[in-house]
Amino acid sequence: MKLSHRLIVITSVLLSVFFIICVIENVLKNTDLTEGEDAVHGRQHFIFQRRFLNREETSKISAEASNNAMNVIPLPPKNTNKKNTTVKTTTVSTTKEPRDEFPDLFKYSTLSPNFRQYMEWPPYFRLPKYNPSLADVLKVKIRDNMTNWEKFHLQISKYYLYPEKSKVVEGLLHDLATKKIIGVEQLPGGTQIKLILTMEDGAKALFKPMRFPREVETLPNHFYFTDFERHVSEIASFHLDKLLGYRRTPPCVGRKVNISEEFYPLVEPDLHKTFFISPAGNVCFHGQCTYYCDTSHAICGDPHMLEGSLSIWLPPRNILERKPIRSPWRRSYNKRRKASWETDNYYCINQVKVNPPYDHGRRIYDLMDLVIFDYLTGNMDRHHYDEVFTFGNDSALIHLDHGRGFGRASYDEFSIILPLLQCCVIRLSTFNHLFSFHVGPKRLSDLMRESMAKDPVAPVLTEAHLEAMDRRVGRILDSIRSCVKVNGPAGVLLDDVLDYPYYLNQTIKIFPD
Ligand SMILES: *[C@@H]1O[C@H](CO)[C@@H](O)[C@H](O)[C@H]1NC(C)=O
Ligand SMILES: *[C@@H]1O[C@H](CO)[C@@H](O)[C@H](O)[C@H]1NC(C)=O
Ligand SMILES: *[C@@H]1O[C@H](CO)[C@@H](O)[C@H](O)[C@H]1NC(C)=O
Ligand SMILES: *[C@@H]1O[C@H](CO)[C@@H](O)[C@H](O)[C@H]1NC(C)=O
Ligand SMILES: *[C@@H]1O[C@H](CO)[C@@H](O)[C@H](O)[C@H]1NC(C)=O
Repeated sequence: MKLSHRLIVITSVLLSVFFIICVIENVLKNTDLTEGEDAVHGRQHFIFQRRFLNREETSKISAEASNNAMNVIPLPPKNTNKKNTTVKTTTVSTTKEPRDEFPDLFKYSTLSPNFRQYMEWPPYFRLPKYNPSLADVLKVKIRDNMTNWEKFHLQISKYYLYPEKSKVVEGLLHDLATKKIIGVEQLPGGTQIKLILTMEDGAKALFKPMRFPREVETLPNHFYFTDFERHVSEIASFHLDKLLGYRRTPPCVGRKVNISEEFYPLVEPDLHKTFFISPAGNVCFHGQCTYYCDTSHAICGDPHMLEGSLSIWLPPRNILERKPIRSPWRRSYNKRRKASWETDNYYCINQVKVNPPYDHGRRIYDLMDLVIFDYLTGNMDRHHYDEVFTFGNDSALIHLDHGRGFGRASYDEFSIILPLLQCCVIRLSTFNHLFSFHVGPKRLSDLMRESMAKDPVAPVLTEAHLEAMDRRVGRILDSIRSCVKVNGPAGVLLDDVLDYPYYLNQTIKIFPD
């Protein structure tokens, strides 16, 4: 071979090697996920693009960049008129970290007149308007002379357990808190004692007793699955669920009972033999269960009176058909093992969104709502959620069992919100609630305090827990901000506020310039 030939061969080999390296590098770069630095949580996590429902990505993501008019939208009004009353709470929260008003997220909230310009339009998923109730399905009429619990059962509907500002729920809470108890049974199964009470009007309710004062925090060496349940967490969770607009948690109220008078004469022999008088002279019982049902973990009155939570019992399963569904983000419930989602940041994209029922319809958004709810309460014990079948497909979920929330006020469990960062999708209505909780005029803590003020065992939560919720709202908004930065508003927010009044008055720009 001639020298010039050799040179040509060597050069072309070198060129192809260089080309291949370039290609490999590029491929690697593209598979790298965008990484977001989360300063608040002090650690890095990944943000994922929404990749499901066969929709074209990024088509409208540039809406934000292309619309300069948005930059002049005024910020939400600051609270100047309420200075005197809010001084205390604001100083508390501002001493720790400077308050972020999330001005960049304001334009996507329904507080902004033009929020819809950023949304995907038309929405690719829309629920049918028809919202049948149990009364419709059973073809019975709700009569005035029915008890509140009967009315409540019959008005349970496809999209929520009760409508907004429900008089029936108000009456039901009053009944549960005041009506005479005529039956006391132990709820079989479970790790801790719970009682099913029957009231004089026939209502059944689940009673969770107070174990220790509300100021006592979770023991640091307790796992989420061995922690004691808290009756106040049940009550507060009902109020939070209502404030978030979900209405997927059965009504729950606090009540003080006289153990000697209201329980002891009614209990069955099995439970009867676990009653005793403690050395301090208090009336106690421990019941029978798998974990904490022995003399050293007894429930005690003071000396007779015991505080607890009462959640209304839902209609039987053959009437309101439902089934517990294992959460894809269930924890391992093991001392030594982590669940795969805790370490796999691709979990949502590769293993949840691609499979039914999460690959279409409302389910993934319902789960994100649930994750947000659990993060606000600090509940790590969400192994299942309940799906309802009576009303056909696309029913709202039901959330039960909130005894393990509100354990630690000073600590926010980051892993609870991880699914939101892995999926990066959220309903606009949920975002909107969170945003208005943050900017006020009433913050979440104010709304919770107000909502729970009438409960017989008020104050249900300590101020520390209420403040913690405000802080967590900010952290969720921070996560949403990271998602929007990467995927754009239309990629993150699902416009589900179609009945929102602005829709009727506004000229909707279907496709932004
Ligand atoms: C608010 O504070 C100002 C002084 O800072 C005081 O003069 C005024 O009376 C207060 N208003 C109320 C409603 O407490
Ligand atoms: C309720 O009213 C209906 C008729 O209005 C009557 O037939 C029914 O017996 C009443 N039920 C009770 C429990 O009073
Ligand atoms: C509770 O019941 C016991 C027994 O009937 C009674 O002696 C006691 O006074 C009651 N306590 C209260 C606070 O009602
Ligand atoms: C409900 O969903 C199932 C599974 O996706 C489907 O097979 C069924 O046809 C749906 N039913 C209705 C009434 O849409
Ligand atoms: C929309 O228009 C109706 C009547 O035309 C009016 O009553 C309502 O206040 C308007 N809503 C908003 C948000 O402007």
